[in-house]
Amino acid sequence: MSVALIETAREFKDLCAEARRDGPLGLVPTMGFLHVGHQSLIRFAAQRTSTVAVTIFVNPTQFGPNEDLARYPRDLSGDLKKCEEAGARYVFAPRNPEEIYPPGFQTYVDPGPLAAPLCGAHRPGHFRGVCTVVAKLFAMSRAEQAFFGEKDYQQLAVIRRMGRDLDFSTEVVGCPIVRETDGLAMSSRNAYLTPDERPRATALSLAIAAVQDGYASGVRGVASLEALARAQLERAQLRLDYAEIRTAQDLAVPGEANRESRIFLAAFLGKTRLIDNGPLVRAES
Ligand code: PAJ
Repeated sequence: MSVALIETAREFKDLCAEARRDGPLGLVPTMGFLHVGHQSLIRFAAQRTSTVAVTIFVNPTQFGPNEDLARYPRDLSGDLKKCEEAGARYVFAPRNPEEIYPPGFQTYVDPGPLAAPLCGAHRPGHFRGVCTVVAKLFAMSRAEQAFFGEKDYQQLAVIRRMGRDLDFSTEVVGCPIVRETDGLAMSSRNAYLTPDERPRATALSLAIAAVQDGYASGVRGVASLEALARAQLERAQLRLDYAEIRTAQDLAVPGEANRESRIFLAAFLGKTRLIDNGPLVRAES
């Protein structure tokens, strides 16, 4: 069945209500310029639900004043093909931001301490914008399940918490990070990288590997492991935003690294901000 484009909130709500009568609805929220990572979420959703709705909305409330809202990449016709290929039924791409934020809009969802460190500390207001738009999409779709990538691990944790705290009936499902063959985590923002910058972007996954090697060889000090990550980023001349070991569950700073810890990275390559994260113990292959 081919994918249907929906441009208004009214139609999105109505079609979601209709779809839910046939079985569970799966929601995949995105900002578009889709890649294989997004498609993996859609495929995951299509295996677990009877109808998949993808949303494509470059959400202004989650961008800071000096961020890339205006230049965020867009390709609606390419996105529609990718959605269809991966098994989506509906694509909600609001024809204008008022479909999501109508005139007079003034109510926001304010996340708690999970949103404070890492990207929260470096992008003030970012997770408030994310939570607000995701809460709206949950309420509009009333999807049984919604799918989010571990690529944005803190976002996944914050949204999962929001779902519980606000009693949304939508179950939040986490999906693994999809990478390019050289290890770079797929991201719409990778399109910003120049041919000179692109090879240097592997520094993030190399930094995760360095931390995993350090942990495997017995290093447990948080500062020592973070230094291993920083060294990789510096070698490729990325500008560090953060490199922090945190617990997977609540993003707290562990006294000493353990198998429940993860390494979280953000760094600038030229004007492009890249993020990545991974467990300290490599998943068994
Ligand atoms: P966006 O960056 O478009 O990402 C949409 C979803 O795709 C997120 O859940 C993200 O974690 C997931 N994703 C991106 N790259 C991935 C990869 N390489 N592997 C696996 N999953 C990946 O995240 C957002 O949009 C927005 O903040 C949003 C949640 C839509 C709210 O506006």
